[in-house]
Amino acid sequence: MKRLKLDTVIQVFEKEELVASEKELLHRALAACDLAHAPYSHFQVGVSLLLDNGQIVNGANQENAAYPMCICAEPIALSNAKVNYPTAVIQMMAIRVKSKKNHVGQPAAPCGACRQIISEYEQRQQAPITMLLQGETGVVYKMEGISSLLPLSFDASFLE
Ligand code: THU
Repeated sequence: MKRLKLDTVIQVFEKEELVASEKELLHRALAACDLAHAPYSHFQVGVSLLLDNGQIVNGANQENAAYPMCICAEPIALSNAKVNYPTAVIQMMAIRVKSKKNHVGQPAAPCGACRQIISEYEQRQQAPITMLLQGETGVVYKMEGISSLLPLSFDASFLE
């Protein structure tokens, strides 16, 4: 028997330690939280993507009274980027969360379905997307790609 040991590296930064472009993207993602339609969970997720053409594209969760129809912020931002800038490479993704019910002082990681979707976009562009996660306040988690949160992911290579 062999053991397969998977290594996940998450860098934890104080906000002041980040470079200007990272701070700006996190700021934009927090602003995007206000674009959420979240009357049921009161949990607002804002996503901002930095593209290699310099554009920033946002997304925010859009809920529905039929709960399973809720759409997470991540696929909204990613599909928005891809249809508006089809040839651009997504370099960085900032995810901020806040809640109308309580203060969120730590990063919230994307849900499992969103991790799979982010992984597909990385595959499509053949480049990892740097991830920045932060709550309304508090430390920032930085990862060099979604594989840190989704090791052993299923991708198109299995379908060849
Ligand atoms: N949500 C996201 O937008 N992204 C995630 O990765 C996790 C959850 C949203 C969906 C729903 O509107 C609210 O957060 C509570 O689950």
